[in-house]
Amino acid sequence: MPTEVTTAVIGGTGLTQLEGLTLVEDRTVETPYGPPSSPLHLGLYVGRPVVFLARHGQDHRYPPHLVNYRANIWALHQLGIRRVIAVAAVGGIHAELGPAALAVPDQIIDYTWGRAHTFSEEGRVLHADCTEPYDGALRDALIAAAARAQVAVMPNGIYAVMQGPRLETAAEIRKLRAEGCTMVGMTAMPEAALARELGLAYATLAVSVNWAAGLGPAGSDIHGDIAASLSAGMDKVRAVLREVL
Ligand code: HPA
Repeated sequence: MPTEVTTAVIGGTGLTQLEGLTLVEDRTVETPYGPPSSPLHLGLYVGRPVVFLARHGQDHRYPPHLVNYRANIWALHQLGIRRVIAVAAVGGIHAELGPAALAVPDQIIDYTWGRAHTFSEEGRVLHADCTEPYDGALRDALIAAAARAQVAVMPNGIYAVMQGPRLETAAEIRKLRAEGCTMVGMTAMPEAALARELGLAYATLAVSVNWAAGLGPAGSDIHGDIAASLSAGMDKVRAVLREVL
């Protein structure tokens, strides 16, 4: 790389490559936890050095419960990354989070189970402080970038992380809403906690691609919503990324 690279973008569903990234190097790395989901794509985006990693693999081969989150975060840390912008497709629960709306959540509730979720092990006891699971400065930077790009973004919200890969039942979404959740996805945990364990600043740029189960207009179907809104939502995501980087 021409300059030191300290910022990474982890792309999720709908963002398996970063259009506009001038690739400098594809780095295949190994970690104590196995290989990350994809090679690390080192390059320049709007003239800034950045690393891009496809969370589900470039060919979208890893469903949310099988993503090697530890390898992904370890590999980025090993490369010297200090900031991680995680792009995540979610279902909207809050009335303002209809398809193609963006949010920068400030809280997470983790409903996942059985995932390799920590770097802590015997002899290495870690109790990461997750009171504020997201980095405040990075969240502020995303919110300011969205304003400059004239992209509306909900500046907070509680991201419910479900195990997946199935979508939720309507009753599950009613329960999540009663518990205060504003959006639902499948990847923010353990990703955010692992980043915290290694001291990486981490924030999510969430893009709603559907109304969460049971909240859409009568007759709507979630996969139809996703197909219809993913590309509009990702255009907005790219506009924010251009500004923030
Ligand atoms: N539920 C969970 N994860 C999701 C959804 C959803 O409705 N949409 C996109 N990711």
